[in-house]
Amino acid sequence: MNAQPAAQSAAEPHPAAALPAHLHRLVLTGFMGAGKTTVGRLLAARLGWDFLDLDAYIESRAGLSVPSIFATHGERHFRQLESAALASALGRNRLVLALGGGAPEVLTNRLLLEQTPATSTIFLDAPFSALFDRCMMQALNPTLAQAGPLRPLLADPAAAEARFLLRQPIYRRLAHITLDTASLTPDQTVAALLARLS
Ligand code: S3P
Repeated sequence: MNAQPAAQSAAEPHPAAALPAHLHRLVLTGFMGAGKTTVGRLLAARLGWDFLDLDAYIESRAGLSVPSIFATHGERHFRQLESAALASALGRNRLVLALGGGAPEVLTNRLLLEQTPATSTIFLDAPFSALFDRCMMQALNPTLAQAGPLRPLLADPAAAEARFLLRQPIYRRLAHITLDTASLTPDQTVAALLARLS
């Protein structure tokens, strides 16, 4: 059984949510472990929109897992695939898109996000320690990972924290909405987002 029915049943008791008509895409950013995929699935279910996880999209286009792309072709090649996948994804309407944590580091990706009309970018923020612990829990228990791919860049925790610090201002500058999710469940995060967006 995959994760989709769980996301749908969690959303079922809620009435359908609506956004201002000028919004056609919501993009979730944040570091690894921020909950972009989990929150994105729930948010899309509430809106009756499609959900797309950019890492999963890259994997389906490349026919390789994210760890295999990193191991075989390196991060630089992964970033090229990521930019191409992002450009393609942003052509879709009524879409909630969960980015990989590193996508906003690349200038091309930031320009794509900023210049695509009717697109709102949301930063799911939390302290590094909370995010790292969440990722470790997911790695230990793959069912908690909602079938998300493994994360090659967490192999070296000190390097991961350095990336986190480098990216924080980038996430903040790019986002239309920043939400501190440290003490929120995914359902509470979705409720807070819908309140901010409507
Ligand atoms: C990465 C984050 C991952 C994935 C890849 C690189 C990063 O996505 O794109 O392993 O550079 O932070 P998640 O943020 O969904 O784990």
